Amino acid sequence: MQTASRFLSTDPARVSARSEAAFFGALKTANNTFKSTATGRLATIDQAIIRRLDAAGAQPRRVLDLGISSGVTTLELAQALWRSGRPVAVTGTDRSMTGYLVDLPWGCRALVEPGGHILQYDLRGVPLRPWNRRLDFVTGMALVRRLIDRQLAPRARARLGVRRACSPVPLVSPRLARAGGVELVEDDIAVANRRFAARFELIRAANILNRHYFSEAGLAAAVCNVRSYLAGAGSWLAVVRTHGGGDHRGTLFRMNDAGGLDPVERWGGGSEIEAEFLSAPVSDRGATR
Ligand SMILES: C[S@@+](CC[C@H](N)C(=O)[O-])C[C@H]1O[C@@H](n2cnc3c(N)ncnc32)[C@H](O)[C@@H]1O
Repeated sequence: MQTASRFLSTDPARVSARSEAAFFGALKTANNTFKSTATGRLATIDQAIIRRLDAAGAQPRRVLDLGISSGVTTLELAQALWRSGRPVAVTGTDRSMTGYLVDLPWGCRALVEPGGHILQYDLRGVPLRPWNRRLDFVTGMALVRRLIDRQLAPRARARLGVRRACSPVPLVSPRLARAGGVELVEDDIAVANRRFAARFELIRAANILNRHYFSEAGLAAAVCNVRSYLAGAGSWLAVVRTHGGGDHRGTLFRMNDAGGLDPVERWGGGSEIEAEFLSAPVSDRGATR
């Protein structure tokens, strides 16, 4: 693992997929998910989507990838579509894509989420993750971490927002930011975004729409919003959840002439929230909360 300041100041052309995975894989967010999205994780799903597009002779122009985390799989989706001869423009969204590098006493720093959750400490150039692995309780590192956290976390939170002590940094793959053809937007899927209404011919919602992240009402709002972002009849929507390794369970839908969604392909038995998409009211307005 590298410190955030070192990793984020590296020339993107020199950042490898491996160092990117190591950096983001150690960032545990406030909602207990990791910033990492393993390289190649959704490759089989991307290929299945492209096979369907080929079979239908479909040429989507605008693509939306929801809940991109570090954006590694977004870049892979974009590249797979470009390689398939589709020069799509991709929009990637996540609730949060920004962190803050906060200067601390004793030459230390912290990488902090906007809400104050600490993602990483930088102890004069030595990175330290604030969360424990099981082994840390055996080696005593858990205790060391607790002592450091007690000293530094309140100071980091107090300095968050103090301009001379803290600077915003993008928490997305430098390779994605460099790729071109991909627009990144901070957006909460549970709140309707008018800019996205009826705009996308292909949407992927991978590992975001589930009851672990959302209440029933939040999930219903998110489903309604995602549907409203489809460009109309013939548009595609892939909803998928990965249960470890390559165990993808999802559904590829296509919008019909009446504005309803038809499942056209299922992976691993289909999406656990397929019924929510099939029963959601047909509306182009999305949900506001
Ligand atoms: C497990 S990651 C999925 C990354 C990628 N799509 C994949 O499958 O590899 C889930 C992402 O959803 C984002 N997320 C959770 N709730 C969200 C919300 N309400 N709006 C937008 N993004 C959200 C999280 O911030 C996180 O980055």
